[in-house]
Amino acid sequence: MDKLVIEGGKPLSGTIRIHGAKNAALPILAASLLAEGSVKLLNVPQLLDIDVMLDILRNLGCRAEHEEQTVLLDGANIASSHIPEPLMRQMRSSVFLMGPLLARFGEVQLYQPGGCAIGERKIDLHLRGLAALGADIEEKGSRIVCKAKRLTGAEIILDFPSVGATENIMMAAVLAKGRTTIVGAAREPEIQDLQRFLNELGAKVRGAGTDTIFIDGVDRLEGCVFEIIPDRIVSGTVMVAAAATRGDVTLEGAHPAHLTSLIHVLRRAGVQIDVGDGIMKVGASGRLKAVDRVVTSPYPAFPTDLQAQVMTLLALSDGVSVMKETIFEGRFKHVDELCRMGADIRVDLNHAFIRGVPQLYGTSVEATDLRAGAALVIAGLAAHGRTVVEQVHHIDRGYDRIEAMFSKLNGDIVRVTNESLKLQGQR
Ligand code: UD1
Repeated sequence: MDKLVIEGGKPLSGTIRIHGAKNAALPILAASLLAEGSVKLLNVPQLLDIDVMLDILRNLGCRAEHEEQTVLLDGANIASSHIPEPLMRQMRSSVFLMGPLLARFGEVQLYQPGGCAIGERKIDLHLRGLAALGADIEEKGSRIVCKAKRLTGAEIILDFPSVGATENIMMAAVLAKGRTTIVGAAREPEIQDLQRFLNELGAKVRGAGTDTIFIDGVDRLEGCVFEIIPDRIVSGTVMVAAAATRGDVTLEGAHPAHLTSLIHVLRRAGVQIDVGDGIMKVGASGRLKAVDRVVTSPYPAFPTDLQAQVMTLLALSDGVSVMKETIFEGRFKHVDELCRMGADIRVDLNHAFIRGVPQLYGTSVEATDLRAGAALVIAGLAAHGRTVVEQVHHIDRGYDRIEAMFSKLNGDIVRVTNESLKLQGQR
């Protein structure tokens, strides 16, 4: 198992270009199955989750190549709409394939994507949405079979603005007969990116970015060339790391409009943020201030995917901050690890009370999930002494070589692989 070894205490500095968004690329890769022509995707990051999605597409018979940041897909010879259980279990986002496969092939067989370290993560809203479009759904244990000769447009009201359910319903509805309206839709930028992509294929979708999305079904979709948006969570992670190390970093290509709630919280803490044309400068000097209340909520409110990273910053800020997590019930696993580094954080159900300490201290910690892992890397970069972050595979799901990204910004961080340990042993 790989580890990251970080010598902390160096302020981050320099300029970095942010890679493409995992959470936009995953549904767009799935949506590519809707196209009868080939699809070329640009700015697709090299991440474990993307590798898994491409493996699933290949397993279905789709030709899929990923070189540098470009993915070429051709689904002309898809032979199956059955996703084997071991592949479904590797990644929750495999559930995105349900809508496109059902819409294009009239049938899909898959399995519950399984539990997750950050909470239960049900898919009932996905299934209810597809049923409303006329799918016949049979669940036997963890196996799910959905069938529909042709889906029919409907009004679907989501009880909660689930990102995944909104995307799955959009992807199913583009080939349905008539109009689908999703009321109470999620409004994330990744949903707007999916709308842009579907429309490039020839679909008729509008409203993404608001809470009502209208989809007028078409008979077929063609291929296209499409560029994925930059990753707002990676941008946010870099911004928090710059602030936590009292550094000075320039982000290129990030979209500040996607980060409004984070910028607001960071400015309240005393971080300097200058937004220019296509760039953002983030700097901090001296001790930052506590922020009395940060609440995670669906976009455009503060994202759950930045909760852990911002908690690291608040753990070092002067005063008591309160963080409330409303999206996932199991998303405070980084707290114990941060406390092992000297943080003073108490958790009561979905609230974390963070009393800022002047310094964190390096030790050995474990990444329990993707964003918790990113938070520990930030803690290591800011801490006094050496931090070893274990279970790096969680971090690799969403950050393209996080050690290279932070090294480029003057961070002292290296990856130790099993191979390099073996080589050291032989010397
Ligand atoms: C997406 C993001 C993830 C982010 C999350 C919330 C991707 C690939 N992942 O995940 O990084 O943390 O949005 O911003 O885009 N729920 C149900 N029933 C459902 C679906 C969801 O009860 O059918 C609940 C979930 O358990 C959770 C909440 O709704 O408590 C939010 O989930 P959702 O918005 O669907 O997140 P994901 O699409 O899984």
